[in-house]
Amino acid sequence: MADLDDLRDGTDFGGADPVATGFHLKGLAGQDWGMRARLSRIFDPRDGKTVMLAFDHGYFQGPTSGLERLDRSILPLVPQADALMCTRGALRTTMPPTSGKGVVLRASGGPSVLSELSNEELAISIDDAVRLDAAALAVQVFIGGENETKSVKNLTTLVDQGQAMGIPVLAVTAVGRDMVRDARYFRLATRITAELGATFVKTYYIEDGFETVTSACPVPIVIAGGKKVEEREALQVAYRAIQEGAAGVDMGRNVFQSEHPAAMLAAVRGVVHDGLTAGEAYALFESHSH
Ligand code: R5P
Repeated sequence: MADLDDLRDGTDFGGADPVATGFHLKGLAGQDWGMRARLSRIFDPRDGKTVMLAFDHGYFQGPTSGLERLDRSILPLVPQADALMCTRGALRTTMPPTSGKGVVLRASGGPSVLSELSNEELAISIDDAVRLDAAALAVQVFIGGENETKSVKNLTTLVDQGQAMGIPVLAVTAVGRDMVRDARYFRLATRITAELGATFVKTYYIEDGFETVTSACPVPIVIAGGKKVEEREALQVAYRAIQEGAAGVDMGRNVFQSEHPAAMLAAVRGVVHDGLTAGEAYALFESHSH
């Protein structure tokens, strides 16, 4: 117990103005402390950006190329990521609890590549998410898809549970194969999920009008990497997305299916955190590839 002999009344209370408590993420300054603390384990507070390493693909694709052995392909990359997007199975079996990385847990699932992908259910309880110290929960939303209302219900249920526990929810806007991927669609999909309570949103980059998608969405947007393309092209997409208002990338195949995944991740970090152009980042990739 503290010494009680010299209890001094405080006198230095400053003025009436509170110290500014600005938060580094758009639309989220009013969230509770735990929510903001978790978001700060995903988005670097120094620049409000994130490089999420996504390797949750096995939840519907099984051991896809590059993810045959998470211990061999992903584990060495963990130190370079800001956050890890994965399933609870991958987390418990293969990821070290000592990495200090924010974990964005895949929270929906059900159908495999062999059936209708939009027919998902919530696939984790909030208790287990707390037990796993999740920094966020990710749920797929199929706006305009066959199971639109069901997937929106998954989102809103998870938002209710997440808000109660201070766990952010990432809405992943999934696009059906036959749907048009344009700015109008992505404005619709991202805005709907944000209005319904998503804490941040994942979507795809598009060439025309992506800045209207980020500006019409009141919470941060991260882009999915998408299918594997040439490194130069993937870095160009990341660069443009950041220039046009994205708060980061959630990249999977373009990292773990690269011939040089660590070099690619370093180059992506250069674009997202260090202001490198796509060309400069590609030069970095090449220099790390030998
Ligand atoms: C889909 O399986 C997941 O949501 C992925 O985490 C997401 O699509 C990002 O991975 P990729 O960069 O491979 O598209």
